[in-house]
Amino acid sequence: MKIAFAGKGGAGKTSITAWLADHLARRGENVWLVDADTALSLGQACGLEPSELPTPLAEREDIIRQHIGQGYMSLNPDVSGLPEALSVDAPLGGPALPGVVPGRKRLLVMGTIAGATNGQGGGCACAANALLKAVLAHLILDRRDWVLVDMEAGVEHLGRGTVADVDALVVVSEPSLRALSTASEVARLARDLGLSRQVLALNRCEMDIALPGRMDLPGHLLRVPTLEGLKARQLATGSVLGLPEDAAIGALCGELLEALGWNGQGLHNAPELCRNVPVPSTVAHRAP
Ligand SMILES: Nc1ncnc2c1ncn2[C@@H]1O[C@H](COP(=O)(O)OP(=O)(O)O)[C@@H](O)[C@H]1O
Ligand SMILES: [Mg+2]
Repeated sequence: MKIAFAGKGGAGKTSITAWLADHLARRGENVWLVDADTALSLGQACGLEPSELPTPLAEREDIIRQHIGQGYMSLNPDVSGLPEALSVDAPLGGPALPGVVPGRKRLLVMGTIAGATNGQGGGCACAANALLKAVLAHLILDRRDWVLVDMEAGVEHLGRGTVADVDALVVVSEPSLRALSTASEVARLARDLGLSRQVLALNRCEMDIALPGRMDLPGHLLRVPTLEGLKARQLATGSVLGLPEDAAIGALCGELLEALGWNGQGLHNAPELCRNVPVPSTVAHRAP
């Protein structure tokens, strides 16, 4: 299954991506984590030290030149070996399920087009852009593993062709009007591109709330409470794994997968995206 995470900055996309990847790997699934956000914080959220992080692909002028060519641009570069070559393994945040061989969590850092190499001879932002798109499309189209893409607010950079092969979108928001407005835009845009299997993850939300009307929010809602254990160590580490609330996070990840239509084997019917979401909430508050 391929899942993209989008929403306003600071809403919790990276944390939820890291939690879900860890949940899956501890259940024996192989996961590709793709950091496609400008903040580039997914690796640290997964417990990697800054020195262990791979160089963002957008900054690998050698690879861009090799795959996109010099003087002309191949629009269809062969990138099949790149994810393996450029990714690093991330550690598990806790024990695997008893009797289960844990899966691999591999992190690929895309980098940003703005920060893309702009040097002499061969490297340019549009070549980097073409390569980033090709690698993302390759992971999404050709891999059987789980692919979790931590994105910026929009879904445009998934590309029109690729978005159709993303199975599901988690729109992450805080319970605030501005964050929900962004969430609504993201949900609408994704739906217009054909990505209608969506769940709204309402982060740092302790209780049922009535969502504002006239918004195109996903019809399925998962509430994620503020985690005191994460708040308490915010200044000590960038990792969001190995928290005292580990069991509650695991349960939330299970509920998220279920809300996305995952039944343990495959996907069942896509949830509907409804306009003017009534009073939702299905998930009881889980105290840390
Ligand atoms: N449920 C939560 N409880 C406590 N802290 C949280 C929670 N979700 C996210 N955070 C913290 O809030 C900050 C922003 O979260 P992050 O996942 O980086 O957001 P985004 O990727 O959307 O910008 C991080 O420092 C993260 O550790
Ligand atoms: Mg982030």
